[in-house]
Amino acid sequence: MTRHMTQDELKALVGDAATAWVQPGSVIGVGTGSTVNCFIESLARMPERIAAAVSSSEQSSLRLRKHGIPVLDANEVDALAVYFDGADEIDARGCMIKGGGGALTREKIVADMAARFVCIADASKLVTTLGRFPLPIEVIPMARALVSRRLRELGANPVMRPGFVTDNGGLILDVHGLSIPDPPALEAELSQWPGVVTVGVFARNRASVCLLGTPEGVRTIDF
Ligand code: A5P
Repeated sequence: MTRHMTQDELKALVGDAATAWVQPGSVIGVGTGSTVNCFIESLARMPERIAAAVSSSEQSSLRLRKHGIPVLDANEVDALAVYFDGADEIDARGCMIKGGGGALTREKIVADMAARFVCIADASKLVTTLGRFPLPIEVIPMARALVSRRLRELGANPVMRPGFVTDNGGLILDVHGLSIPDPPALEAELSQWPGVVTVGVFARNRASVCLLGTPEGVRTIDF
């Protein structure tokens, strides 16, 4: 019989499995969130360490440095072979909703620097159609009302994340009530609205592979 595993145990399982995708001595991209926190703990236990990381948040940078892993400024690095990050939702094509932790802008930048995106997630994140998780959009404070009005015209319900300012000084609108059958089209459309910094749809920078934590073990999905 399969033992019940908590979501935290599944996150630890995939965090550990992801180290098999790490080249010792290399510079890797590291994302943000509770699954990535597990990954960083596993990285720190690797007998042969990575050389350094480019990180997508102050939170992850602190944790990496605490383990003695150097963190490089993105501007000092030309390219990365691989970026590791979690997701709030991932569909069968590897498109994702990200930004639940509010780090979506830096996550998209580091993902774009990398040749491959390894998504690490527990099984609850795999969905048929993106959109049940409210879509985070980072906006410049001045554009909050304008972007919110436009989203309401689309039939969506944007809610400003209370008391939250991003690492870049932006605000987050969590957009409820969107079904996203065509993630590349929605990402392209919303990304060009004035005042929008980053849309939490990751279609252009979708996952290359997903390591999905299930009670039966880690399932690897190639996209
Ligand atoms: C952070 O901004 C997000 O994109 C995270 O990657 C996402 O919220 C997944 O987080 P967990 O691993 O905590 O579920």
